[in-house]
Amino acid sequence: MANKLFQIKPLDHILATGSAEGGHTLKRTLTSWSLVALGIGAIIGAGLFVRTAAAAAQNAGPAVTIGFLIAAVGCALAGLCYAELSSSIPISGSAYTYTYATMGELLAWIIGWDLVLEYAVGAATVGIAWSEYLNNFLVEVMGASPIPYQWCHSPFQTSIDGVSGIINLPALFIVTAISLLLIRGIQESAFVNNLIVIVKVAIVVLIIALGWSFINPANHAVYIPEATKYVDHQGITHNYGGWLGILGAAGTVFFAFIGFDAVSTAAQETKDPKRSMPIGILGSLLICTLLYVLFAHVLTGLVPVEFFRDPTKGGEASVVAAIQEAMPGYGWLSKSVTVAILAGFSSVILVMLLGQSRVFYSMSRDGLLPGVFSEVHPKFKTPYKGNLVILVLVALFAAFVPGDVVGHMTSIGTLFAFMLVCAAVIILRRTQPDLPRQFKTPMVPLLPILGIVACGAMIFGLGKENWIRLGIWLAIGFVIYFGYSRKHSKLHKHD
Ligand code: ALA
Repeated sequence: MANKLFQIKPLDHILATGSAEGGHTLKRTLTSWSLVALGIGAIIGAGLFVRTAAAAAQNAGPAVTIGFLIAAVGCALAGLCYAELSSSIPISGSAYTYTYATMGELLAWIIGWDLVLEYAVGAATVGIAWSEYLNNFLVEVMGASPIPYQWCHSPFQTSIDGVSGIINLPALFIVTAISLLLIRGIQESAFVNNLIVIVKVAIVVLIIALGWSFINPANHAVYIPEATKYVDHQGITHNYGGWLGILGAAGTVFFAFIGFDAVSTAAQETKDPKRSMPIGILGSLLICTLLYVLFAHVLTGLVPVEFFRDPTKGGEASVVAAIQEAMPGYGWLSKSVTVAILAGFSSVILVMLLGQSRVFYSMSRDGLLPGVFSEVHPKFKTPYKGNLVILVLVALFAAFVPGDVVGHMTSIGTLFAFMLVCAAVIILRRTQPDLPRQFKTPMVPLLPILGIVACGAMIFGLGKENWIRLGIWLAIGFVIYFGYSRKHSKLHKHD
């Protein structure tokens, strides 16, 4: 039995079933450019427009920029590993498929289950951030009243005046709307995505360019704060300042980079995956790193950290709040940013839900999940039933869990997946040395090992509560694996 747990799925088997199989085939429509756009579509979102201010307030002050650099290094190292794997195993399923081919079924299951944190819980996090900016839109752009606190916050949150949240209705609304769009088909979705990407990048560049002259040097006077503890208004203690604070900030803003790997989940829908995948993954990562560091520098220069700690000032919808506070005469900018952010977050949710449904699609074809996740719609050619089940899961998180909690769960789950992807490259080089690789990660095993160390350091920085959450999530996964998946695995049926 132990052998079966670590039985790997033979690569020729994976590549053959990946290319065609009756009514379960997805259309190949994506090019290199659509992949870079898909990547940026997934990357720039709540991480930049919500988590940056949270990381500055709770962990690192202006040194959040150093947190971004650490996160970028971890992502680049993992990204090089993703690029090698996706160019040699160019089919749906991302890290899940790579692990199945290299480290066996149990680890593949663990990673597939872990990717739910990245994609489904990540989509919920962005949905919650969307809800923050919707209020801003209603008040500042439409001149209407905001949605009452209890209808746009989880039951685990309390306002400064003691009002408890009940359900986050706007977050619920947006994840439902995007799921329905996805069911209509990827080609239309990719077109909308391309438009949104252009707007999103333009807005980030505008904020950097226009905000630069409003940086108040006093806000950057203590760039790396001394190590201390900060207790927020919900009573939660954070490591602030020093290296621990910076690592915590890196783990938090790591969220802002999540998504470039979602590109690899679309390999089965890409025209020339061997060439396009590395371009899509690394290209989108590079562009975003540059924008993020500059953006974080401007944001923390506009207002002091206390501004982001105050729930009545910049605690929510923080970027727009900072522009309104520090850039007089730029009302048009804060309004445009609000609209762009609402559209931008929608594109992030779209790519994450797409990634989630494709991972479940692959797991279902392997028998580890029920067949409903790989049933393709006869007309739209999308795994529509899977999308609907995922919608229920994402909706529950979006409606009832606070943004900080789902954000950290997403980061830690993804970091863990990245570590396994780095390990997979080292293993596959040994077990399949002759496999054609269009793109090779340089300096193996050094770079993958450094990737594992960098991601491990960020996991460390996220702290004990999040380690426990990850442990509980994986434990639930074990129950499902041993209760269902192992018995239904198609690989075992070949024995
Ligand atoms: N990177 C994505 C974001 O920041 C998940 O929203």
